[in-house]
Amino acid sequence: MAADRRGKAETLALRRRLLSDSCRLFYPEDPIKIVRGQGQYLYDEQGAEYLDCVNNVAHVGHCHPLVVQAAHEQNQVLNTNSRYLHDNIVDYAQRLSETLPEKLSVFYFLNSGSEANDLALRLARQYTGHWDVVVLDHAYHGHLSSLIDISPYKFRDLDGQKEWVHVAPLPDTYRGLYREDHPNPAGAYASEVERVVNSVQEKGRKIAAFFAESLPSVGGQIIPPAGFFQEVAEHIHRAGGVFVADEIQVGFGRVGQHFWAFQLQGEDFVPDIVTMGKSIGNGHPVACVATTQAVARAFEATGVEYFNTFGGSPVSCAVGLAVLDVLEKEQLQAHAASVGSFLMELLRQQKAKHPIIGDVRGTGLFIGVDLIKDEATRTPATEEANYVVSRMKENYILLSTDGPGRNVLKFKPPMCFSVDNARHVVAKMDAILTNMEEKKKRSIPLKYTEVVTFSLEDENH
Ligand SMILES: Cc1ncc(COP(=O)(O)O)c(C=O)c1O
Repeated sequence: MAADRRGKAETLALRRRLLSDSCRLFYPEDPIKIVRGQGQYLYDEQGAEYLDCVNNVAHVGHCHPLVVQAAHEQNQVLNTNSRYLHDNIVDYAQRLSETLPEKLSVFYFLNSGSEANDLALRLARQYTGHWDVVVLDHAYHGHLSSLIDISPYKFRDLDGQKEWVHVAPLPDTYRGLYREDHPNPAGAYASEVERVVNSVQEKGRKIAAFFAESLPSVGGQIIPPAGFFQEVAEHIHRAGGVFVADEIQVGFGRVGQHFWAFQLQGEDFVPDIVTMGKSIGNGHPVACVATTQAVARAFEATGVEYFNTFGGSPVSCAVGLAVLDVLEKEQLQAHAASVGSFLMELLRQQKAKHPIIGDVRGTGLFIGVDLIKDEATRTPATEEANYVVSRMKENYILLSTDGPGRNVLKFKPPMCFSVDNARHVVAKMDAILTNMEEKKKRSIPLKYTEVVTFSLEDENH
């Protein structure tokens, strides 16, 4: 098969020659060559099985047979653009609308999360006639120029903050401005947004939108306090802007209790625009924007067509429908709730045992384990987090980090992740943390890059 016809070293050499270094590899010290995926497992060219704890794109499991079959069957019949009448696109819009509050009743189909957020920005600007955007600190909303501009996670390393972008503090109740001991963190963080809104208006500028991930992921697997979004929406609406909920990483039942992560805020909260991507197509490039009639009408009023060559094709919609079918048939939302709480419980037991674990937070299969240097300062234990990730990989477990300090171990596996997987991962983590504590006690330096560096000469193919 094409994917595994070369030795790993040769693939790496070709990649280094032909692809930009900006396109990074996981585990750059010793990249993995993955040739097959199934469920929550990935397999390398030697047949080694890795447990995938981080891929929230393969939402219902890598290469789910029903999703693959749906794409294949539709590919054999027709794949064209959305300018012809076709049942898949309307069936799909209808199925999605059944998952959302009634107010979100108009759908646009696209190919990527970035395209969805870029369209959300255009919709917001057209509807409000305003230009500026308020975002949460450390947010990431996509790789297009327009979205790099509203992603502090990226623009801080590039040419900085544009004058139309305004950053509000991340509602992180563990390490942020207002913490778990605050009597009303939702209100306090919302007041920070209000302060930003006021200062924007004082400058004579006008807010088009507030963008937030319903659960900030890159920000460190953050769970905003309930009620925060409602209060923010009030401030933003008062300023004439709209609320955009980015569900690209966290939608489609991942949070367990609800289908959409914004619903964790309470039934009384409904965003004006919801953007979807990643998990929506289980790996196939599908994305969607849902909005209100009023926003859509304002966009139509320009008279300019919205055309997207591949978005909403019969194949993309067949894939999207199959993902929804699998979620329902395998009851994966309920599964995420029960396996997620089991995993959280095991991780909390680890917190009681290992002082390096400062916080375990999450909902469903969206979980963060915040590693700290010490409880008094809660300084991110970045080096230690890297060490754990390297050791986990040696144990065939794929894990990764999030957060500004890159110290939050993130768990957002395919939704078929099992109770046995949870036990296995936590047992390995326990052993790694125990070993790390032992090393520290004996002043042995942690060499988290001691993962064998892959070199061409070592290869025996
Ligand atoms: C929260 C969030 N929004 C948007 C995007 C952009 O999606 P894509 O990479 O599909 O363009 C990402 C991608 O990581 C994301 O995490």
